[in-house]
Amino acid sequence: MLTLENNCIVIFGASGDLTQRMLIPALYKLYSHQKLSSSFAILGVSRSTYDDQSFRDKLIKDLASDDNVDHESLDKFCEHLFYQVMDPENKYEYKALKQRIQSIETALKIKSNTLFYLATPPSLYSVIPQNLAAHGLNIEDDGWKRLVIEKPFGYDLESAIALDKSLYQDFTEDQIYRIDHYLGKETVQNMLVLRFANSIFEPLWNSKYIDYIEVTGAEDLGIGSRGGYYDNAGAMRDMIQNHLLQVIAMVAMEPPAVINADSMRDEVVKVLQCLKPLNEDDLKHNLVLGQYTKSHVRDECLLSYREEKGVPEDSRTETYIALKMFIKNWRWDGVPFYVRTAKRMPTRVTEVVINFKKTPHPVFSANPPDNKLIMRIQPDEGTLLSFGLKKPGAGFETEPVAMDFHYSNLKNSELLSAYERLLLDVLKGDATLFSRSDAVSACWEFVQPILDYKKNKFDLYGYAAGTWGPIEAEALFKNGQTWRSPCKNLTDTDYCEL
Ligand code: BG6
Repeated sequence: MLTLENNCIVIFGASGDLTQRMLIPALYKLYSHQKLSSSFAILGVSRSTYDDQSFRDKLIKDLASDDNVDHESLDKFCEHLFYQVMDPENKYEYKALKQRIQSIETALKIKSNTLFYLATPPSLYSVIPQNLAAHGLNIEDDGWKRLVIEKPFGYDLESAIALDKSLYQDFTEDQIYRIDHYLGKETVQNMLVLRFANSIFEPLWNSKYIDYIEVTGAEDLGIGSRGGYYDNAGAMRDMIQNHLLQVIAMVAMEPPAVINADSMRDEVVKVLQCLKPLNEDDLKHNLVLGQYTKSHVRDECLLSYREEKGVPEDSRTETYIALKMFIKNWRWDGVPFYVRTAKRMPTRVTEVVINFKKTPHPVFSANPPDNKLIMRIQPDEGTLLSFGLKKPGAGFETEPVAMDFHYSNLKNSELLSAYERLLLDVLKGDATLFSRSDAVSACWEFVQPILDYKKNKFDLYGYAAGTWGPIEAEALFKNGQTWRSPCKNLTDTDYCEL
């Protein structure tokens, strides 16, 4: 196993939510499982006023209240946390930052390997790298310098290209790690293993045997306090452009020659470049946009999207999107991919359903059983294969049965969270599970016609919070195909057009 080199992790946006909720817990978990290097430092940077101690106290508050945490190891972890107040937009303040990094590195005997994590608003994604470079903090003479960027990588195709151009002025692609936390999920990576480590699925994995594929990313929560961000993003930018297109790439890509960053990402980009752009007709008939409306679920009144904090009362941002799309290549010719994602659905479930074609000649009944492979990304991570067997007794009737695997049944195997896995990979210098620039552009290219379509008047359907979305999304299907809905609507309120 590759041992990590000593390093310093500089987190911009250190007073923010992502640092507190995701990054620090993930780093602590890695630390407590002895997965980090023997010497390391985490230097938080932001405008808020803290010193090392108050920063430590703030960050570990949540961790310390966890009954399972070992307080001795948490205290030791804290000794690696430091803080620097600075305005990341002010290039003159980077001199002090550089000095601080150097003094921490000298004190902890850390070689100059530095990871800059941009947990900031996207408006700083160009500014910070430029300012780092102005002070030589991109130069790798004395140790590696890596940059981690959170989504969104751009706001549309044009701004994504501009962002890359700006980053490439001072950093090389090898130094840039674009995080898509879906690629850090064990169950997303498992799709590759399920497909390419077994010989029983792959021969069927094509248009000859697969009827259609569903990809669902449903969330029961609304947009909470993120109205300001979400209203500018919508479900298309928030979930499809990145997470769900990456999932589709894992389902549809060709086998890589080997598992390494280049080989994997070459295959990912190839399949993403084959996504068939939606034309005018598709935009009208194969795309359904919706927004959640007020409803009552289990004695609770759920606000409509337009009533959420930070959302304009006439907002036409989609919180639901369903689309039928195709991949234009030999393997997938003619196989529809139905993709949907939304807030305020009846439950939280992310899954891919491979619907196999029915038997060509129904010997046992007019309606042969469904043959489905359901890859549950979350929750209850696992895989279910459904098929038909003989119903015991006289005759030859079929009965649907299933083989069901749950990760929770595996003994002694703790799943790494997405951030644990991805942070560890960046520290190792392994970019396999990070989005490469060409893949990001391919996603934007696919999404751009939808973004353009939304600039004009378009149909936006209301769906009651707690339901599976606008009824119009059923019309995407033909020939008896339909969405698999893991549970029922929580309300029977009518749908409407907004
Ligand atoms: C984030 C989106 O990237 O992914 C959120 O901004 C969304 O709106 C989240 O809720 C979903 O992630 P997960 O891991 O909970 O499916």
